[in-house]
Amino acid sequence: MDDNRIVSQDSDENEDSLEQSLRPQNFKQYIGQKEIKDSLNVYIKAAKQREESLDHVLLYGPPGLGKTTMAMVIAHEMDVNLKITSGPAIEKNGDLAALLNELEPGDILFIDEIHRLPKVVEEMLYSAMEDFYIDIVIGQGPTAHPVHFSLPPFTLIGATTRAGLLDAPFRNRFGIVEHMNYYNQADLEKIVKRSAAIFNSNIKDEGAREVALRSRGTPRIANRLLKRVRDFAQVSGKTEIDIASVDQALLALGVDNRGLDRTDVKLLKTMIEFYRGGPVGLNTIAANIGEEADTIAEMYEPYLLQMGYIKRTARGRMVTDKGYAHLGIENSND
Ligand code: ADE
Repeated sequence: MDDNRIVSQDSDENEDSLEQSLRPQNFKQYIGQKEIKDSLNVYIKAAKQREESLDHVLLYGPPGLGKTTMAMVIAHEMDVNLKITSGPAIEKNGDLAALLNELEPGDILFIDEIHRLPKVVEEMLYSAMEDFYIDIVIGQGPTAHPVHFSLPPFTLIGATTRAGLLDAPFRNRFGIVEHMNYYNQADLEKIVKRSAAIFNSNIKDEGAREVALRSRGTPRIANRLLKRVRDFAQVSGKTEIDIASVDQALLALGVDNRGLDRTDVKLLKTMIEFYRGGPVGLNTIAANIGEEADTIAEMYEPYLLQMGYIKRTARGRMVTDKGYAHLGIENSND
């Protein structure tokens, strides 16, 4: 994958301290996702009043919307420890047992990309989540024997891009299921201004508005763009980030005036030029533009759907009139 890509799945592992400083610590600092914050606030208060662990939480939605940050905020608000891991990092039952073994009562285990947990590990989580115990087999061959481990009450927070990626028995074990959606323009503007302040950068209102408009509703992208925009402003000797700096940086990054990157545009153009705007299947599009179908489904399609540039039909994806108009191409099907 192209590492310079603005729409990228991973960031959390390679996060630098600057990026960490951008993360809000508590609900007060956390901008946007109001409905989720309001509900979680109630569940957290209630759990604390009862002196119980918070029910298990499943957060789902496109990458970059702050699922890890939300887990950190929940841990802070619950005043408990947080352990962070990811589905692919837990390869076998023993890995999960080791993580669970370190938990204190009320602690939170956050598993990112929880849909990528191996099935055996997922199944071991069932009893852990429901009744706070695990049974594991110790030893091999004739000396192998099952051992029963009791666990302290804990909270599992799982994050995934689509809730439908989890089997129903697993999904149903989460008492709290929240869908994180793209941020609106006003909230993204606030995030951009907050981040600029943390960077010690001055940004004009119009500059913040423009970065927000071109960040595909995603704080992670807004913050990445802001860093590059800041570079351009600085090198041009500007003391304040203005629209011109945003334009310059985003032109260099290949991000258009609505936040589409080169892959989005390639995807739309391929659909138009080779398939007359569709309907065309996801796998066909993927093969044509040299991307994985999953990558398109999780990272590109949701935003294009949200913007109304494409739509889903029973026979495949289609470019809408709005999509044609955005590219300045006439829709000859009309
Ligand atoms: N930085 C990234 N996401 C944020 C959010 N939701 N609120 C405040 N700052 C952020």
